[in-house]
Amino acid sequence: MKHKHLRPPLVVRALARPATLLLSAAMFSISLAQDWQLPKETQKFKPGPGAELATSNCLLCHSADYVSTQPPLTRTAWKATVDKMRVKYGAPISTNKLDELIDYLAATYGIRADARGR
Ligand code: HEC
Repeated sequence: MKHKHLRPPLVVRALARPATLLLSAAMFSISLAQDWQLPKETQKFKPGPGAELATSNCLLCHSADYVSTQPPLTRTAWKATVDKMRVKYGAPISTNKLDELIDYLAATYGIRADARGR
């Protein structure tokens, strides 16, 4: 009796090829890595006047989470943090934008001025 040559299913043939295996392994680890990324919006600064200053000056070395996970700080404390970023870590922030930037941080991630800390 004559056997017809049976072609293995496509998946089996694909798995038998080492290059395909490597590729699917790589794609699998990429998708695993993506599972561990934070949701995009927590990596951004909240909108508001001066937000673009934070975006352009504060994301060079770390994410916006460093700011958003702080407890609400007074303006004085935000000023001290920004000064530390500049003096200690060398953040390149133009001095004529400092007040606007600190105002943004205090207004957005701070204790309200009428509470205390102005
Ligand atoms: C030149 C690099 C750099 C830039 C630019 C920078 N930071 Fe940082 N920042 C750091 C480093 C380094 C740390 C400390 C990280 C650690 O301790 O793990 C830090 C930590 C922080 C923290 C955590 C609390 C603390 O005091 O350590 C906050 C809040 C923060 N940065 C805010 C800001 C803000 C706001 C800006 C923009 C004005 C900014 N950073 C820009 C380097 C930078």
